[in-house]
Amino acid sequence: MFRIAHFSDVHLAPLPEPRLRDLASKRLIGYANWRFNRACEMTTQSLDRLLADMRAHNPDHIVVTGDLANIALYDEFEAARLWLERLGPPADVTVIPGNHDAYVPRAHRHYRRLWAQWMSSDDADPGEDARFPFLRRRDGIALIGVSSAVASAPFMATGRIGPGQAEKLVALLEKTGAEGLARIVLIHHPPKLMDWRGYTRRLTDAGRFRSVIQTAGAELILHGHDHRAITMTVPGRSGPVPVAGAAAGSGPPGGSHKPGGYAIHEIAVDEDAFQVAVTHRCFDAEGAIVETARDGFRLSPPC
Ligand SMILES: [Fe+2]
Ligand SMILES: [Fe+2]
Repeated sequence: MFRIAHFSDVHLAPLPEPRLRDLASKRLIGYANWRFNRACEMTTQSLDRLLADMRAHNPDHIVVTGDLANIALYDEFEAARLWLERLGPPADVTVIPGNHDAYVPRAHRHYRRLWAQWMSSDDADPGEDARFPFLRRRDGIALIGVSSAVASAPFMATGRIGPGQAEKLVALLEKTGAEGLARIVLIHHPPKLMDWRGYTRRLTDAGRFRSVIQTAGAELILHGHDHRAITMTVPGRSGPVPVAGAAAGSGPPGGSHKPGGYAIHEIAVDEDAFQVAVTHRCFDAEGAIVETARDGFRLSPPC
């Protein structure tokens, strides 16, 4: 059995003090949002407690599905790199970017260089910037990192994968499916809109992404962005594919409609199927970290 700890939306604090010229962009809105809303909600103490809880479960691998930063300042990317170094060795930690990591145009060049060790294919050259999608093979598992992180207009938090990435994703899914690996796709934005309130935060080409999954199949899709623990399915090549969204890793410790949390995913192979178990662990109203949901799936192996 392979056990994956799934963190997302850690929105690392504290936010470095921006220079005045840094705020001459969408960052001004994000900075105000941080000062008046998120700085109270997103806490390092919550994240540290969740990480300690996660360590006690002794996962084989850790994934972080984006939004490590807040307004994509260079100093935030550097602080996130140091946090990743403490989280674990690059071989055991896989990261993808979220919309807050691509808050303004051109921010992507910084995380693609500074976080490359955690978001590159196994066969990438050392020193090469991250490219998407990437593939990492681990003990019967294919971890495929997709980027939906694009800079969007003020008051929007949309994402997009684009046709080129979709085409490469089909090829990676088919190749790793033929190898008999359990294919886990990492993407920041959820692959379907849950209700109209998410319209300004949606994956604009979600239909394209779902069509890739329906064509090539996958065994598990992991996302973040919604800051809430959720498990659903989307159609796959040979049946429904489980989709798990993790709560925010720096979310509040209790009494909130979106408490902080993370998830643990267990993937086992028996003779003729993959067994996938999705477990969400979040803060309860008293601030204790408890199991809040557990779902099991049995998936036919790719043919
Ligand atoms: Fe987020
Ligand atoms: Fe996000």
